[in-house]
Amino acid sequence: MKPKIWLSSPHMSGAEQTYIKEAFDTNWVAPLGPNVNGFENDLQSYLNEDCHVAALASGTSALHLSLILLGVSSGDEVICQSKTFSASANPIAYQGATPVFIDSERDTWNMCPEQLEIAIKDRMTKGKKPKAIIPVHLYGMPYKVEEIHKIAKEYNIPVVEDSAESLGSQYKGQNCGTFGDLSILSFNGNKIITTSGGGALVTKTKEQKQKAVFLATQARDNAPHYQHSHIGYNYRMSNIVAGIGRGQMTILNSHVAKRRSNHELYLNSLKDNNNITFLQEPEGHFSNRWLTAVLLDSKETREDLRLALEKENIESRPLWKPMHQQPIFKDSPSYINGVADELFDRGLCLPSGSNLTNEELDRVISAINTYFAVC
Ligand SMILES: Cc1ncc(COP(=O)(O)O)c(C=O)c1O
Repeated sequence: MKPKIWLSSPHMSGAEQTYIKEAFDTNWVAPLGPNVNGFENDLQSYLNEDCHVAALASGTSALHLSLILLGVSSGDEVICQSKTFSASANPIAYQGATPVFIDSERDTWNMCPEQLEIAIKDRMTKGKKPKAIIPVHLYGMPYKVEEIHKIAKEYNIPVVEDSAESLGSQYKGQNCGTFGDLSILSFNGNKIITTSGGGALVTKTKEQKQKAVFLATQARDNAPHYQHSHIGYNYRMSNIVAGIGRGQMTILNSHVAKRRSNHELYLNSLKDNNNITFLQEPEGHFSNRWLTAVLLDSKETREDLRLALEKENIESRPLWKPMHQQPIFKDSPSYINGVADELFDRGLCLPSGSNLTNEELDRVISAINTYFAVC
């Protein structure tokens, strides 16, 4: 059996160990400390906007705290991109609120502005003005920021920008993770940088960050004893994990460059194959190309190719199954144009890690070519 080629595996810089050692040497083995502050500062400088960053246990916890900060509660409705990972939508349910799913457009595969406006108007005629909108920069491709935020502004609905997959991506020169009223990042094991598990909340004000950190550290009132006037959460990032994050920040730009070059290589090597289409960057969109995703001509071809790659010990994965198709969300309202369903049927993510060697990429490309030569 040939060695496994993963879809997207962790890629350390080597500098992580220095920060972790320092944490051990100084006994900062806790959910606070110099690495937590340092990682937050590194992220803030990288994002390069007037923003504040709270390092948390995961992107999911950052989404959950966002909804709490926005006052989302039982009986509310929150609009969410349908084509995404379930973690974008689950925190809506944690709050006892109802997700309202919006289909995708074809240019970026993200939230369709037309469907968004139809949904807002329709929910409002039903007496349910949505409490928030959660668009996602899927696979690193920025959503149509101007269009989505214009609608959000017009109806005065806050945006929680799910930037879990798009650290290093930009829209019209501005970094993803800085567009939302609140934005979230993920450092899960498969992301462009990883802390094994972790995430961050990006806020516009210092007060929002302070409130998030308060809630993330069990909401302890200012008293010498343990006193609580709010329900709290154990969502803060540990100082050890943040040490990994500081090391990872030193190579973020080179990881973006490598993932983009993987994408270019696939594109150039497979451009004569009429069975495969790639997602182009629309004008003003700069994708970190976290995952290279392609479309095949049919669901059958997509699945056959996935199995052919699996036989070669190469991991690939269908695009996210839309939330409106998920059994858990079958009763949620959804505004559908068929795009996300088609992308799910025809789409496949190819190995995209920043640590892939040329030989590994060649193996993937030749396995794809072999599949099409014999079928
Ligand atoms: C689009 C999207 N949103 C949210 C998350 C949740 O992030 P985490 O795994 O850090 O909780 C992920 C990834 O895991 C994701 O891909």
